[in-house]
Amino acid sequence: MTAREPTVSVLLEPGWEQGSLVDDVRRGLGSQPRTLPPTWLYDDVGSRLFDEITTLPEYYPTEAERAILRDHAGDIAAAVDATTLVELGSGTSDKTRLLLDALTAHGRLERFVPVDVSEGTLREAAARLAQAYPGLEVSALVGDFTLHLGHLPEGGRRMVAFLGGTIGNFYLEERGAFLGALADQLSPGDWFLLGTDLVKSADRLIAAYDDPGGVTERFVTNALAVLNRELGADFDLDAFSYVPFWDSRMQRMDLRLRADAPQRVRIPGAGLEVDLAMGEEIRVEISTKFLPSQVDAELAAVGFQVAHRWSDPAGDYAVTLARLG
Ligand code: SAH
Ligand code: TRP
Repeated sequence: MTAREPTVSVLLEPGWEQGSLVDDVRRGLGSQPRTLPPTWLYDDVGSRLFDEITTLPEYYPTEAERAILRDHAGDIAAAVDATTLVELGSGTSDKTRLLLDALTAHGRLERFVPVDVSEGTLREAAARLAQAYPGLEVSALVGDFTLHLGHLPEGGRRMVAFLGGTIGNFYLEERGAFLGALADQLSPGDWFLLGTDLVKSADRLIAAYDDPGGVTERFVTNALAVLNRELGADFDLDAFSYVPFWDSRMQRMDLRLRADAPQRVRIPGAGLEVDLAMGEEIRVEISTKFLPSQVDAELAAVGFQVAHRWSDPAGDYAVTLARLG
């Protein structure tokens, strides 16, 4: 069979990145505690650094999720009747191939729709996947999964995969809104496959987000480089220290940059000047860790019924299959 060209639809409007970056930066840096929204971590440089993170020995979630999919993709394919697989925040869709192999072997899958804000990464992934799965229609969407769920393909039986523990990067209220919006868009009988990192010892969690080679630090600090490039800001990247810590009350990693000296940062593209006191911190990302019971409750709250859950042998990570009732 000859490979079909993938289609790539761009839902982000021209200038969208600029426009919503400005809003996000005004809201986040202008308030206390200062925050930056994580979507801006994944420009081309950030996407490459993230890929490097996934190969670090300390960063166990990628391998744990891969092991689960390796062992259970066949069970997933046997349980679902999906003709379309949508993947949110798909990145390279590397682990997803295990799922695509099993779903195509079962003979029902017709279409794969990876969705990501990172256009370059998505285009490369879509081209490679179309080559590797000649019988499959690959229709990529360059879009934001907090804004564009209304553009998911209609028709047939759908399964939405949301892997990598990315759901943990939402704040609590955003997570509820996201799950509600997803349930709204799906039809009864559609499937949701969710990857979640699980609560474990603080030591292992901190190690996973603070590798000795400094790859994670470069990934988080890249958020400032994005502001310098996109908005003409003058952040001095060397004047910040990376501060990852475990927030046991909120059960999440809290990843921050701390100003090593007092400084005034100009961000002309957002019409902002920010005075940072010495030691003041900017939160760049959170990564929430879950208990299985909490995943069940949050899915049930928006109408999903949990069908199966699989964990890796160490119990570090969970993949949950749910169906909209
Ligand atoms: N699913 C992959 C990648 C996880 S990293 C894995 O499991 O390894 C998170 C991915 O989500 C990145 O590719 C990033 O570009 C994408 N992303 C982050 N915020 C997004 C948003 N708001 N909308 C769509 N994609 C987003
Ligand atoms: N979804 C990933 C996670 O929460 C994203 C990630 C991995 C990340 N390493 C990071 C985000 C380091 C910020 C900093 O685990």
